[in-house]
Amino acid sequence: MIPDAVKIVEVGPRDGLQNEAQAISVADKLTLVRLLAEAGLQSIEAGSFVNPKWVPQMASSEEVFAGLPKDGRCYSALTPNVKGLERALAAGASEVAIFGAASEGFSQKNINCSIAESLQRFDGVMSMARDAGVPVRGYVSCVIACPYDGSTAPEKVLEVSQQLLDMGCYEISLGDTTGVGTPASVNRLLDSLLLEIPASKLAVHFHDTYGQAIANIYAALQRGIATVDSAVAGLGGCPYAKGASGNVASEDLVYLLNGLGIAHDVDLQKLIAAGEFISGRLGRPSQSKVARAMPTENDE
Ligand code: HMG
Ligand code: MG
Repeated sequence: MIPDAVKIVEVGPRDGLQNEAQAISVADKLTLVRLLAEAGLQSIEAGSFVNPKWVPQMASSEEVFAGLPKDGRCYSALTPNVKGLERALAAGASEVAIFGAASEGFSQKNINCSIAESLQRFDGVMSMARDAGVPVRGYVSCVIACPYDGSTAPEKVLEVSQQLLDMGCYEISLGDTTGVGTPASVNRLLDSLLLEIPASKLAVHFHDTYGQAIANIYAALQRGIATVDSAVAGLGGCPYAKGASGNVASEDLVYLLNGLGIAHDVDLQKLIAAGEFISGRLGRPSQSKVARAMPTENDE
């Protein structure tokens, strides 16, 4: 049941950087993306076209997309509404993602509307994306618990995921936004989802707040899920999920996949070097345990 190959969606340049208070130059963002691409990552979430007043760090996404190479890789962006999609299309994004939630509290805080209102907004995004021939991924946040509403019923996650798939999303990325899940709660969630949705249409997106992300990924792999989101150096966090830490580190994910003999596209040493670059720019150590255990040749 464990997949032979896994697709890694690198979310570091978006989820990883969106919460950073310090200014990060467009040149540094582009260097990060280039290093990630050189490490072999084929799918990189490079920015988001949200309200810049809400998430100032992503305000430079137009400039970032303008500087990306046309190298056949998938460079995607978050688009919360039609305005976001118009910006993403003008910037040349090869794929976009809409992002909803399985809890009302997070939906209100994150995108300023109810779940039902968000689905209405997404309708406009989906039809415009369809006309433009751009694939749309769907995120569902708070699949285990919500920082405002407490634990989330798997049935609610199923309902929202199914609605996003019915609208035309090609895949649902299941976000444990606050990183509170364990293999037990992840398996309960997947018990419910996999009755209705094939594993091939699901991805997992674990934040590592409680140190459970690698265990949770292993649980998801055992259920046949073959797409995993991660962020280099374990960067990340959502401005609307206070206290939640970064995504699972891409380096730690690649080490896990190597150990399990699961194919992927990534050169671990080059990935560690990408993580060292951005950690250096941010002036703090990498959150990747693997990167700390396996220094690159540049290190003493
Ligand atoms: P709103 O304020 O309700 O929007 O925001 P509005 O339609 O009422 O418009 C208000 C103003 O925003 C107007 O400007 C609009 O033009 C502008 P004004 O007239 O005041 O000058 N505006 C925009 N500007 C640029 N780009 C846009 C855009 N839309 C409106 N796309 C909105 C609604 C959704 C836009 C806002 O709530 C928002 O930007 N939210 C984004 C929050 C965010 O980025 N969160 C982090 C990403 S999600 C995440 O991290 C979770 C994930 O990783 C999975 C997981 O871990 O669970 C994906
Ligand atoms: Mg996230």
